[in-house]
Formats: sequence, C-alpha cells, structure tokens
Amino acid sequence: MLGGKRVLLVIGAGIAAYKSLDLIRRLRDAGAQVTPVLTRAAEEFVTPLSVSALAGSKVFRDLFDLTDEAEMGHIQLSRSADAIVVAPATADLMAKMAQGQANDLASTVLLATDTPVLIAPAMNVRMWQHPATQRNLAQLQHDGVRVVGPESGDMACGEFGPGRMSEPAQIIQALAAMLGDGPLSGRRILVTSGPTHEPIDPVRYIANRSSGAQGAAIARALLALGAQVVFVTGPADVPAPQGAKVVPVQTAQQMHDAVMDALPVDAAICAAAVADWRVSTASDRKLKKTKDGLPQLGFAENPDILRAISQPGERRPQLVVGFAAETDDVVENATAKRLRKGCDWIVANDVSPATGIMGGSENAVVVIDATGPEVWPRMEKDAVAAKLAQRIAQALA
Ligand code: C5P
Repeated sequence: MLGGKRVLLVIGAGIAAYKSLDLIRRLRDAGAQVTPVLTRAAEEFVTPLSVSALAGSKVFRDLFDLTDEAEMGHIQLSRSADAIVVAPATADLMAKMAQGQANDLASTVLLATDTPVLIAPAMNVRMWQHPATQRNLAQLQHDGVRVVGPESGDMACGEFGPGRMSEPAQIIQALAAMLGDGPLSGRRILVTSGPTHEPIDPVRYIANRSSGAQGAAIARALLALGAQVVFVTGPADVPAPQGAKVVPVQTAQQMHDAVMDALPVDAAICAAAVADWRVSTASDRKLKKTKDGLPQLGFAENPDILRAISQPGERRPQLVVGFAAETDDVVENATAKRLRKGCDWIVANDVSPATGIMGGSENAVVVIDATGPEVWPRMEKDAVAAKLAQRIAQALA
C-alpha cells in the first residue's frame, strides 16, 4: 500500500508512544521506509534503541546534534520524505505547530517541511476539549495538516472520552488516503447522519435521541480509505468529520433536498434517524397558552430518503446502505425493511434499552444483503465503521 514511500515519523511525548513502535513495524510491512524523529521528552516513553531497531534506521533526536547537522541538516531531513506523520501528536506539539515555533528538532522539521503532514493526536480528554487545543486544531487544518482521530474510549489517565490515539492500522489508512492511495480514492460517497428537527413553532421542535456518532464514525472510516465524502447531517451531538463536505440541515425535507442535490454518488449510506412525520400545522409564531385549551397539531408524512435514492434509475448509486434500529425480531424486521426500501444492504441493530447501544460507544450489528444476514460481534462504533468501510470498498472495487 505504501511501497517505496519515505515516511518521517515524529514521535511526541505521550503514553500512546508505545503504539508508535507497532506503527513503525506496520509502516514497514506496508512497504514504507521510516525515519524516526524523537522529541527529547518522548525518550521518557520509548527508547531510541527500540525505535531505531524497529525502523531499521538512525533515530534523529536533537536539533543541536552537530554530527546530524553535518550529515543531514534539518531542512534536508524535512524535505527528504514523501510525508510526515506525527504520532502521538501531543497538545504541546500541536500548539508549537499551530504557532510556528521551532525550538527543537521535531518542531523545526515540521516548520521547514513542504511535504504533506498527518497528525494523530493523543492526550487527556480535557486537554483535547480545551478551547486552546481546539483553536490549534482548527489552525492546523486551515494550514492543510491532515488529522486522524483521536478516538473515544477509556484513557490511560482513567477518564473516558475523545483523546485516545487512533490505532496504527487507521493511521496507515489515513496516510495512504493522504497520499492518494486508499482503496476508495476517486470514489464519491454520501453519508446521512444525526437526527432531524421538525418545527412546531419558531422555538419548539420534535426530535429523536440520535447522537450522530455512528454516522460520523462511518464518514471518518470512508475518508480514511480515501473516499470523497458528502456528509449531510441533522443537528448532531458529535462534531462532523474533518475532511468531509458537510451539509448541515434541520428537517427531513431539507435532508431529502440536500441528498438529491448531492447525487450522483458511487454509494449512499443512510445512517440518519429521520423523523417519519413533520408538523403540518407548524406555526410561524410562538404558540401561546390560551383559555381555549391545548394546541392541536396536525401531521404529514416526510419523504423517505433511503427509499427515494434506492429507486432504479440513472442516478441510483451503485451501492445503497440503510440502517434499521429495532427492538425485537431484528433480523426478520430488517430483512423485510431491505426489500421495502429497495436498498442493497441493511445494517440492523438491537436498540432495546438493555443492550446499552443507543447513546453508548459500542454497537452489535447484523449486515443483511441479498444473500442473507451476517452477524458481527459487539465492538466499538469506530470498529463497526472501519469494518463497514472495508466492506463498501470491496463492493465498489
Ligand atoms: O423506516 P425506518 O425509519 O425504520 O428506516 C430506517 C432507514 O431509513 C435508515 O437508513 C434511515 O436513514 C432511512 N430513512 C430515510 N428517510 C426517512 C426515514 C428513514 O432515509 N424518512
């Protein structure tokens, strides 16, 4: 996948640095040539000897190492690679990069480079969510830096949330995609995600509990395989994926129109929890309490987006995937839904409260296609997304 590519790997000082050793091994397995750069503090987490042994290369460690400067200056080091990967990218390294500081070898190389840069952030959840880090992230993205992760989950510090470094396999996929090498490079894929909000009046609406987490994870996994993603999202709790074309909508009708505008696409993944009905009597003024009793709401059916794009015709995507959240007879109901909607696959899951899936970080799905159901074990939503993206890549190949 990365045959002959020269990768400069900057290892920051985080507990996730141990995963960078595995990353080096996998990069080399994928055909890349790895030159490691260790920050001074990173040496507290991994030893230069182990990094050097795995990389099969000299480790570059300090800006003021005169031997290195004589053999290969930092400018040359930064330009001699096809890509620079920063993993783990600590809050400190991100801040230095965003501000253009150059006070050690890693930051100097990153400032001097003209090659594409991919960062895999890893830090405590509060540090990640801090406005300063989010400001730095936005600046780096504006500067053209690509970002993979972080993932959500249990952290070494005992907290839970976004901050865990992406797994080496995901970093490699993102790198391959950045270098135009992913299995979905050149493919355009539509993902719908999140809930819809159906107004009752200017301040009230009908909604559902979808967080948008699974849809966003699928979009990230498709991006990591090199796809161009159009992400049509209702008002979700989770941020939209970096690197997608994001089309924010509120209502089912707006989502339908945005989806139709996005066609043609190679594949459409409908992960949104679309409201089945809208309030046909929505008021353009705030409803008030009156002596005449309770307000009467009238309802109208919303367009079924999945069904609409599954209709045979010139603009039908090659692959259409729908979702089915069920509380009983999951496989039977979802199999019937696949036929009713006319889509190619249905990803079904049991959302009974006892499963803890709705709003949780894990999912257990059954993927149903024309050949029947395929049961997947329970796993993180990110892992479901990665497995689904691989299956989509195979179907479109
Ligand atoms: O009919 P039901 O809502 O159970 O179907 C779920 C699937 O259909 C999901 O893939 C959802 O995104 C899609 N859907 C849609 N438009 C609707 C209702 C559901 O695209 N109006």
